[in-house]
Amino acid sequence: MSQNIEGKVIIITGASSGLGEAAARHLASLGATIVLGARRVERIQSLAKELTDQGGRALAVATDVTQYPEVQRLADSALQVYERIDVLINNAGLMPQSPLERRKIDDWNRTIDVNIKGVLYGIAAVLPCMQKQKSGHIINVSSVAGHKVRVGGAVYAATKHAVRVISEGLRQEVKPYDIRTTVISPGAIDSELTDSITEPDVAQNIKAFYAQVAIPADSFARAVAFAISQPPQVDINEILYRPTRQEF
Ligand SMILES: NC(=O)c1ccc[n+]([C@@H]2O[C@H](COP(=O)([O-])OP(=O)(O)OC[C@H]3O[C@@H](n4cnc5c(N)ncnc54)[C@H](OP(=O)(O)O)[C@@H]3O)[C@@H](O)[C@H]2O)c1
Repeated sequence: MSQNIEGKVIIITGASSGLGEAAARHLASLGATIVLGARRVERIQSLAKELTDQGGRALAVATDVTQYPEVQRLADSALQVYERIDVLINNAGLMPQSPLERRKIDDWNRTIDVNIKGVLYGIAAVLPCMQKQKSGHIINVSSVAGHKVRVGGAVYAATKHAVRVISEGLRQEVKPYDIRTTVISPGAIDSELTDSITEPDVAQNIKAFYAQVAIPADSFARAVAFAISQPPQVDINEILYRPTRQEF
């Protein structure tokens, strides 16, 4: 159990797989109460049951982060059941990469809706509660692609750059309320993320790269726990990390 994590009420979007699922398990093992949001409700319900069977506290709420009322319902459910929100991990995301000349407009729209608007909706849903509490912590998930852009990755990188900009703006604005903000930018992590690539040749290349270098999602869980576990007056604003073997 960890002193600054135990008992905290932590909302995680995109908790049905990959980084969000790993963070949920790790933070629950450190004594946090976890509120899980994702569209695949059967997955988050079974994870919530697993965590409660182990003696923890967890709640699953079906959430599509592109629908603001659903994100608000996620936050409201946490408040109704646990009466506070200590941390929001804005983690839901997708990465349907392809060169711009392929004009995958549906992919662009989905990426912007989930990776940018979903993050903003999360902030909107928890901010009034955290301002009232005069405490809270918003953790946004960017990427190495929030620092760099490569061929085929323009739209994804744009959304992840946006997450960093939004996080820095938020950091400055929430100072009067003692709210902490962290942006975490991982490199290649083993998850279901590459399944969101709709162009078969691009998917094949990126999956081959991941097969060579990707590291487990518990790396993300430990980074999140590090940020949350700091004393209240310590605000870890940015974490950028990669697999040791990743060049890009
Ligand atoms: N894996 C990496 O290499 C890597 C590197 C840097 C950053 N990231 C970032 O890490 C975050 C998590 O990705 P991951 O790697 O864990 O991939 P993942 O295994 O595919 O997980 C993505 C999660 O996002 C959720 N999601 C997608 N669309 C959603 C929507 N409209 N509403 C609610 N939830 C939605 C999915 O849940 P449902 O489908 O059940 O809704 C799933 O739980 C993303 O923001 C990603 O960009 C990942």
